[in-house]
Amino acid sequence: MISRNNRIILSCLCLILIAASACTSKDNSKTNKKDDMLDQKVDSLLALMTLEEKVGQMNLYNGFWEVTGPMPEEGNAKTKYEHLRKGWVGGMLSVRGYDNVMKMQQIAVEETRLGIPLIIGFDVIHGYKTLSPIPLAESASWDLEAIENSARIAAVEASAAGINWTFAPMVDISRDPRWGRVMEGAGEDPYLGSKIAVARVKGFQGDDLSQPNTIAATAKHFAGYGFAEAGREYNTVDISVSKLHNMVLPPFKAAAEAGARSFMNSFNDLNGDPVSGSEYLQRDILKGKWNFNGFVVSDWASINEIIYWGRAKDKREAAKIAATAGSDMDMEGYVYIKELVNLVKEGIVDERIIDEAAGRILRVKFELGLFDDPYKYCNKENEKKLIGQESHHEAVLDMAKKSVVLLKNDNKLLPLKKEGQKIALIGHLANDKNSPLGSWRIASDDNTAVSILEGMNAYKGNELIYKKGVDLFLGETAFTKEVKINTTDRTGMVAAVNAAKDADVVVMVLGEHGFQSGEARSRTQLDLPGLQQELLEAVYKVNKNIVLVLQNGRPLALEWAAEHIPSILVGWHLGTQTGNAIAQVLYGDYNPSGKLPMTFPRNVGQIPIYYNHKNTGRATNREGNVFWSHYIDQENSPLYPFGHGLSYTNFKYSDLTMSNSSYAINDEIDISVTVSNIGAYNGKEVVQLYLRDLVGSLVRPVKELKGFELVSLKKGATKTIEFKLTSKELGFYNNSGEYIIEPGDFEVFVGGSSDTTLKASFTLK
Ligand code: NOJ
Repeated sequence: MISRNNRIILSCLCLILIAASACTSKDNSKTNKKDDMLDQKVDSLLALMTLEEKVGQMNLYNGFWEVTGPMPEEGNAKTKYEHLRKGWVGGMLSVRGYDNVMKMQQIAVEETRLGIPLIIGFDVIHGYKTLSPIPLAESASWDLEAIENSARIAAVEASAAGINWTFAPMVDISRDPRWGRVMEGAGEDPYLGSKIAVARVKGFQGDDLSQPNTIAATAKHFAGYGFAEAGREYNTVDISVSKLHNMVLPPFKAAAEAGARSFMNSFNDLNGDPVSGSEYLQRDILKGKWNFNGFVVSDWASINEIIYWGRAKDKREAAKIAATAGSDMDMEGYVYIKELVNLVKEGIVDERIIDEAAGRILRVKFELGLFDDPYKYCNKENEKKLIGQESHHEAVLDMAKKSVVLLKNDNKLLPLKKEGQKIALIGHLANDKNSPLGSWRIASDDNTAVSILEGMNAYKGNELIYKKGVDLFLGETAFTKEVKINTTDRTGMVAAVNAAKDADVVVMVLGEHGFQSGEARSRTQLDLPGLQQELLEAVYKVNKNIVLVLQNGRPLALEWAAEHIPSILVGWHLGTQTGNAIAQVLYGDYNPSGKLPMTFPRNVGQIPIYYNHKNTGRATNREGNVFWSHYIDQENSPLYPFGHGLSYTNFKYSDLTMSNSSYAINDEIDISVTVSNIGAYNGKEVVQLYLRDLVGSLVRPVKELKGFELVSLKKGATKTIEFKLTSKELGFYNNSGEYIIEPGDFEVFVGGSSDTTLKASFTLK
C-alpha cells in the first residue's frame, strides 16, 4: 500500500512531470523532444530530493537470499533493509524471482519518502535459466542475428523474473587466453567485437526499453580489463593511447552508439589510474566525446579498491576520486553512502556531481517505465509461463550448433555414420550435465544441461559404449570455488582403453570444466587439465580413429592433439542444449560453420598471439642467420588462426575484384569475390575481408578484419559477395586518440580465415 504521505508527494511529482511534458517545444525532433521531456522529469524529481536521497540513488546493494523472510536484526542485511527504507538505495543486484523482487520493490515504492523504484540488476550473461552457449562460443558463430536473438531470449526470461537491468554484454577485447574471462567476451578482434556488442545490446534492450520484456544493458568492463598483464585476473594494464583507441574502445563506442543504458567500469588500473577513478575514460571519452547519457556503475567494490591500488588513502578519498571521475553508482562498496554526503557538505565534492550521477540513474529508471509502473517486471504468470519455455530451448539449441568450430577433419571421420558402427564415447565431461552450463549460470539449476552422452544416445543406429576414463575433477564444483583437478587417480583408464580397442570410432570429450574459465580463473597452462592428455595418448595407441570434442571456455594449446588426432571439434560450453547440439553436429544433421573468434596458440609461451599483429622490422629470415623475430624452439605461427573453422563441405574463393585501383578518401570502395561450394554437403561459410595499410604514420597491423558475411550455399552453388569499405574502415586512432585516414597503398584480403592469401590492392589518394 502506498502511504498517504507518499501519495501526496507522488501526485505532486506527477503534476510537475505533466507540466514538464507540456512545455516541451513542438519544433523539436522526436528524439530531442523525448530527451527534453526526460531531462525535465529528472530535474523535477531531483528538485524534490534531499542530498541523502540523491546519494542513495548512487548506492547499489547485492541481494541476500532471505529477502522474503523477516527483517534481520543484525549484520549487513539489516543495514541494507534500513537503508532501503530510508530511500538510500538506488538498486539491488542478484535479487531475482517474483517474490523477492516484489518484496524489495514494495519497500522502495511504498515505504520510502518519495517512493522511487529500484533498478534490479543481474548477471544475465548467456541466458537466465535456459542457457545459451558462453559468449565466446556464440561469437564463434559470427551470426549477428542469432546472437541478438539469444540476448533477446535472455531478456525475456530475466524480465519475467523481475530483473530489469543486466550486467552484459562484456565487450572486453583480449589477446590472452590465460585470462579466464575471455569466455565472457567476443574474442580478440575489435571489428567483430563491435558488431557483436551491438547485437547483444539490441537483443537485451529491444526497440523499446519501456516494454516489460526488455532490460537495460551494461557494456563492461570499461576499460582495458582484457589486457591484464600476464593474463592474471585483476592485474595491472599498461597500454598506449593508440592501442586503447584502436583495440579496446571500439566495442564500447559501438555499444554506446547502440544505446546501451549503462557502462560498468573495471577492476584494473589503466596506465596507473584505477579505472573507477579515471576521468579520462569516464568524463573525457564516455560522457564527453561519446556523449553517453546513461550511467556508469562500478564493478563490485571497485571504488574501495582504489585504496588497495594505492591511489587513495581511505574511503573518503576513494569516494571523492570516483565520483569526480564520473562513476555514478557504487556496487556493494558502501563507500558513496558513507562518504559522499559529508564530502558535499564540506564543499569537497560539488553537489552538481551528485545531481548529475543521480539524474543519470533516474533517467534510466524513467526509460524503463518504472515510474509508470514499478511492478511491471513482477508478474507471477509471466514468471511461470515464459521462463524455460520450449521455444527458448529450440533457440539455444540452434545457437549452440552455430557456435561449434571444426578445427580439423583429416580422414573425414566426421560426420559419423548413423548406422552399423561401434562407437566408444570417452571422457568424464561426456557424461556431465553441469559443466556445459558454463561459469555464469547463477539463475539456472545445476545439472540441467543435456550431456553429450544423452545427446548421442538419441541416435540409435549405432552401438554406443560410454567409458569415463579418468576423473577430471574431484568433489563438488561451484562458482565461488576452485575446481579440484584429479592428477593421481587413474582408475578407469584401462577400461576406457579396452573399450576403444575394437571401436570403429572413438569420440573423446576432453577439456576444461565450466568453472575453470570465467572470473578469477586465470591459467598458466592451456593444456588438457589433469590426466586427460595421458588418457588421450593411451587411447590413441590402440585406436587412431579419434574425434576429439573439446569442452573449453578459452583457446587451448593442444599441439600434440593437432598433430595426431584426425578430427577436432571446439565444443566450448554450449549451455542447456549442449549434448543435443554436439550430437547433431557429430552425426552431420548440422554442418558446422563456426570460425574462431580468438587465436589458438601452439603453446603458452607464444601468448599474446593474435592475427592483427604488427610486422616488426625483422619479420622474415632474410640473411639466413638467427637475427630475426622468432623463437628457437617454436614456430611463430599459431596452432589455429583467428577466423579458422572448417565445414563438412569445401568452399573455393575466386575473382577478387575491386571497383577501381585508386580512390579518394571519401569514396566508397566496392569489392567483390566469388565463393563456391565445391564439396558434398550444403553448408555455410563466413566470408571474411581483411585490410592492410602498407605505410602509416604509426605502424599498422599486418591484417585487420573490416567486413564479413555469413553465406549459405547449397552443394555446387556459387555466389558473388559484395563488400564496401568507407572512411569508417580505412583509418585508425593515433597516439592523441584522434581518428585519422592517411593516403597510401592498401591491400585487401578475402577468404575463410585470417590466414587467407587471396589479395587485391588499391591506392588512397
Ligand atoms: C564482478 C564482475 O567483474 C562483473 O562482471 C559482474 O557483473 C559483477 N561482479 C556483479 O556480479
